[in-house]
Amino acid sequence: MTASPVPVNIRFDPAEQALYILDQTLLPNEERDIRLTTLEEMVEAIRSLRVRGAPAIGICAAYGVYILARSLPEEDFFPRLEALSRELAAARPTAVNLAWAVDQMLSATRPLAHDRSRALETLYRRAVEIHQDDMDKCAAISRYGLSLLQPGDGVLTHCNAGPLATSRYGTALGPLLLAAEQGIPLHVFADETRPLLQGARLTSYELQRAGVDVTLICDNMASLVMKNGWVQACFVGCDRVAANGDAANKIGTSGVAILARHYGIPFYVLGPTSTIDMACPDGEHIPIELRAEDEIRSMWYKAPMAPGDVKCYNPAFDVTDHDLITAIITEKGICRPPYTQSLAALFDN
Ligand code: MRU
Repeated sequence: MTASPVPVNIRFDPAEQALYILDQTLLPNEERDIRLTTLEEMVEAIRSLRVRGAPAIGICAAYGVYILARSLPEEDFFPRLEALSRELAAARPTAVNLAWAVDQMLSATRPLAHDRSRALETLYRRAVEIHQDDMDKCAAISRYGLSLLQPGDGVLTHCNAGPLATSRYGTALGPLLLAAEQGIPLHVFADETRPLLQGARLTSYELQRAGVDVTLICDNMASLVMKNGWVQACFVGCDRVAANGDAANKIGTSGVAILARHYGIPFYVLGPTSTIDMACPDGEHIPIELRAEDEIRSMWYKAPMAPGDVKCYNPAFDVTDHDLITAIITEKGICRPPYTQSLAALFDN
């Protein structure tokens, strides 16, 4: 398993000691890398979704913590690093992978707090490991996910959970890209995913590049394609899974799950164990990011699509109730209900 059909989304250049990301806000029209050097640039890139997707923002933050550490002097090295890292972790609230990756970086360094040069070596090693581990996890998720599909199946997906949102392969798109590599035919319906159009701009771009048969639909067409019998499974990613199996993902995901239940279609959530937050008991406790109203009113359009002063409500994520989820697919295997038990078992040593 090697393919990455689109440009690499996060790249650390060891010679330059520099972090580059592919600016996803420009896709699919332009493929341009930008370099991130300061905390402000990193926070801006994460908030603006230049780098996005739960695992990807975790990987970016891991390299980011290393870069920030390099800029700090010996004096008060660790407390200063901790303060900068906390600001980075707060850039977006819902995807737990961001805070998880920053915690991983700080925990690796805490024992070396008074030895700046060893701390830097450790931070670099840990960032590379987090990046590599995500590739391995996505490869395993892809294999488990593909085992749930039959040749010729129709799969509906929402938002973007492919290589751009992770490291390679992706989570929800991983099985579909793996199927393409193995010559297994599938038909994919990609919801465009209002308001930021991750499905239209990113998912259809990634799948087309990989030679997957993908059809782009507006979000409000999912019910019809399901009713027509064209969908045998729904595959979606996740930003935070609570201990009871409630799963936050891009706004609109829970509606897809409700439709899937109505039409008797299995609904699968795919994500690495770094997206499972066992400290979060249920979906009520997942913080939901609210974003700018202009994303609904005017973004992407030559002229505003709504009165300039109309009130908007723009939550970026919703929570799918655990009882609508057929299975949660992680790198460690396929978890079935009751999730309080099957998810807890993932973390038993
Ligand atoms: O706001 P975004 O584009 O970062 O939202 C991304 C999603 O909701 C993805 O489905 C999720 O992060 C899973 S990525 C493997």
